[in-house]
Amino acid sequence: MDLDSLEELRANDPGALGVLIAEFPQQVLQGWELAQGWEPRPQDGDVSAVAILGMGGSAIGGDLVNAIVADTCPVPIHVVRDYPLPGFIGQDTLVIASSHSGETEETLSAFEEARSRGARLAAVTTGGSLAEIAHEEDIPLLEFAHPGPPRAAIGFSVSLILGILSRAGLVPDASGDLKRAAALLDRAAVHLREDSSTAENRAKRIARMLYGRIPVIYAAEHLAPAARRWKTQCNEVSKTAAYFEILPEFDHNAIEGTGFPEAAQRDLVLVSLFSASYDERTVRRVRLTEEILSSAGMAVEEVKVEGENRLEEALWSVYLGDYVSLYLAALNGVDPHATPNLDSLKQQMARSD
Ligand code: PA5
Repeated sequence: MDLDSLEELRANDPGALGVLIAEFPQQVLQGWELAQGWEPRPQDGDVSAVAILGMGGSAIGGDLVNAIVADTCPVPIHVVRDYPLPGFIGQDTLVIASSHSGETEETLSAFEEARSRGARLAAVTTGGSLAEIAHEEDIPLLEFAHPGPPRAAIGFSVSLILGILSRAGLVPDASGDLKRAAALLDRAAVHLREDSSTAENRAKRIARMLYGRIPVIYAAEHLAPAARRWKTQCNEVSKTAAYFEILPEFDHNAIEGTGFPEAAQRDLVLVSLFSASYDERTVRRVRLTEEILSSAGMAVEEVKVEGENRLEEALWSVYLGDYVSLYLAALNGVDPHATPNLDSLKQQMARSD
């Protein structure tokens, strides 16, 4: 596979996932615009917690928003990826169900439970049962049009959820920040997209380095969800075994896992997402961690993220990782759009009702 041949890249991507990934900056702005039509109910901002219900590509937007607003949101935000709901969720919790298809059973089940507990509900979806329930029950709904797979709607997911929190008065208006973040992504795209050569394109070079190995992506603070996103995109898009770790916890266990099996040193590649804005103790920790891992014979690639604030750094990291996964799919010779195992499992679960 020649990553510099547009023809070969397109032949490997019949569902045009590359085109959808490129739309990330526009999605961020479109989602925010759509969310401005959200009419908060009285007391939506007067909640003691926010819970975002979702799975996979529809949950990660919640993690990213949580990381981005961690220093401004006055109430805790929890992302729930399961059927049961934690006990704290009740009448004074704002519960946002996020499901691209509107058909994900874990999300629908948790949503139903939140409804029975009298929580303040909201829904973000492209349609399906979630939209139907919202219409029938008069639950506030942000319905967006997106023909691609859930993982390619990350821009919508982030800005719609952020928009709801902002309209509810829980976080400040992010219009200007999102415009600047989208502009940063547009500038980054010039050196990430498919028509930029490997010499210019960091995503293509990282994909080459990951090829044939098991990536372990790690990060700290506001970049932790980006590490998770890299991992899930390597899984779903590139069909690659991949894992993620979060600092500082990494240093209390995973840092010892370098010796066995011997193949670990050959097969694993560690990718460190590094922000110059990390707390100074975290910066020291990242440096020491890299030194120890390298001395233990592990391959470590540091990615210094770009951006002026948490929002920009988190979105830039996601954009880079999404392109890495696209090029890794090309090197693996797999369709980046298709998720046959995931689809088959969902179908079988639906049949076993
Ligand atoms: O990216 C994907 O396709 C998955 O991770 C889905 O997001 C996940 O299965 C949940 O589906 P949905 O987003 O439709 O709720």
